[in-house]
Amino acid sequence: MKEGLGFLKSYSFVIITGGSSGIGLQFVRRLKELKPELTVFNLSRSKPDDEWGGLEVMHRQTDLSSPAELDEALQWLHAKCAAAPEGKMLLINNSGFGSYGRLPCNSIERQLDMIEVNTAAPVNITSNLLPELKRRGGAIINVCSLAAFQPTPYMATYGATKAFMLNWTLALGQELKRDNVQVQALCPGPTESRFFKNAGFSSPPAKNFRATTAAQVVDASLYGLHKRRRVIIPGWKSRLVADLCVILPIELRATAAEFVLRKLRLETYLKHP
Ligand SMILES: NC(=O)c1ccc[n+]([C@@H]2O[C@H](COP(=O)([O-])OP(=O)(O)OC[C@H]3O[C@@H](n4cnc5c(N)ncnc54)[C@H](OP(=O)(O)O)[C@@H]3O)[C@@H](O)[C@H]2O)c1
Repeated sequence: MKEGLGFLKSYSFVIITGGSSGIGLQFVRRLKELKPELTVFNLSRSKPDDEWGGLEVMHRQTDLSSPAELDEALQWLHAKCAAAPEGKMLLINNSGFGSYGRLPCNSIERQLDMIEVNTAAPVNITSNLLPELKRRGGAIINVCSLAAFQPTPYMATYGATKAFMLNWTLALGQELKRDNVQVQALCPGPTESRFFKNAGFSSPPAKNFRATTAAQVVDASLYGLHKRRRVIIPGWKSRLVADLCVILPIELRATAAEFVLRKLRLETYLKHP
């Protein structure tokens, strides 16, 4: 994996959201493994769980669903950027969560928090850091999802936030094509992490699909950065689903997704919501 990742040499620091678990934690581990002197700034509610020790991360406790907390965290990040050694920066907008069930599954507040964490926060963070990104050069990785390619009944808000992120990321990539800033939309399919449990699945449906691991997702993303690819869909099965989605009319995509998402385990839930 180290092969071809020499481009990281020119990077001096990384800003990540959601480095505390799953894909985000794997990003932190892999980046520190590839370049131990890289400084990592992390925003999430809990600290990255450093079971091996020695994972030096500058953590700022932040609930991204709170605009006030995010504003304070942005001031902290501006100060850290100003003090960081010269070199490129990598911004990874990774924090996100879903919720499984009929609207408004759990609560209306949870749906609105999801929009805040999955879409508003990345737009806010990226827009704030863009001048520094352009000055230093670097890259933005936005963690979208395979869910971005079709409407997702029973995860209606989640899929829509990811469709927003995919379109927004690609548009931003076009705007920045003359700047020294690369932009990547990372679109994983089912991946082993806390995501499904937090979304309210009783057992991870990822198992049924032989989910990719967070390590595979992160390696595909970093390799994609090296190859300057703008959309990364790790795993051939997920790429096949995305290709199929693109050729199907959008109503058919919604119908097919409803069938698949209901099949996963909703029968019981829907009878007794
Ligand atoms: N797992 C999958 O199958 C899959 C597939 C496609 C895309 N994704 C996307 O991948 C990203 C990472 O998810 P994951 O699979 O690694 O799940 P995860 O293990 O549940 O990690 C989610 C991360 O988001 C952070 N987060 C959640 N709510 C937050 C809040 N209010 N404020 C700040 N941070 C918050 C969490 O940190 P704290 O709890 O410490 O705040 C955690 O670090 C998400 O954007 C998700 O939508 C996942």
